[in-house]
Amino acid sequence: MANLDVARRLSLELSDCIPESIVEMNSLSSEAMSIIFCLAKTFEKCNPNELVNFLRGGVFGSLFYQPSTRTRLNFESAAQRLGLSVIGFSDPQTTRAGDFYQESLEDVVRFTSELCDIMAIRHFENGAAKVAAQNSIVPIINAGDGYNQHPTQALGDIFTMIKCLDTLGDKTIGMIGDLNVRSLKSITIGLSQLGVHKLLFKVPDKEKVPAPLLDILDTVGTKYSFVDSINELLFESDLVETIGINHPDHNKKFNKFEAGAHSNDKQWIITRKDLDELQDNAPYILHPAPRTNEITTCCDSHPKAKYFEQARNGMWIRMALISGLMARKWL
Ligand code: CP
Repeated sequence: MANLDVARRLSLELSDCIPESIVEMNSLSSEAMSIIFCLAKTFEKCNPNELVNFLRGGVFGSLFYQPSTRTRLNFESAAQRLGLSVIGFSDPQTTRAGDFYQESLEDVVRFTSELCDIMAIRHFENGAAKVAAQNSIVPIINAGDGYNQHPTQALGDIFTMIKCLDTLGDKTIGMIGDLNVRSLKSITIGLSQLGVHKLLFKVPDKEKVPAPLLDILDTVGTKYSFVDSINELLFESDLVETIGINHPDHNKKFNKFEAGAHSNDKQWIITRKDLDELQDNAPYILHPAPRTNEITTCCDSHPKAKYFEQARNGMWIRMALISGLMARKWL
């Protein structure tokens, strides 16, 4: 069967096992995730000239209430590769939500959903994506809401992990950073649902690890433990995802950079020397967010540094989600 026909069949199959909007990882079964990964792989193999007719005529709404490099551009690239046109905003100050009117999230979403066939939303409030889904007449994809979740980042990263490691059931994944951050939280939930062998965490404060997240791991029966040293984590893991400890307040609309805001504490930094010392046993390295200094740039040429390839994988995943969510009406 031609790749586009396979993509059409998988999109319809996916539409039967996902909710109308993608708000949290918890709403995706392992079966749905497997189809998303298959569909992403299929889109990767498609001829771009043919793919651009796949959902031609559709309109993708991109509502970004917070700054973004990778997520917004990733969604826009994904939508355009499928033939959709893109409308939206990357700065809410240019809309009526940012001026005199203080237009509500509910109204912006309801209004914009009249103009689009699918929308992605990034917002600084926990739970904003759910509110958007409740007020939209078209499917919503959560592009990160406060400290809640970031499902498309998680799916793209797990897709990258599977490409690197083939399977997860016998692998140890190391995670560095605050597990309250939406991307790490969503990745952890996804890995647990997919039956990862073990998770190793190096966190800034064990007392602040979200209890509901550990409840999910305990309920599923995922093995996990905490380590103090980055070298122990690198040695024990097949793949390490780090977000470091330099990140903004996800509940703020905008975080200005101020001198001294980036910690240089060595215990959080992965260096080329760390990877070279492990030779062939060095883990793959991923990063779900903008880098400050938690991975030195000398690591970029290491064969197991995959944090730039991650971006392209995220695009195939977003194409799969857009297609699955639109399939019911469009395919
Ligand atoms: N991962 C992520 O959300 O990055 P951006 O803020 O650049 O979109």
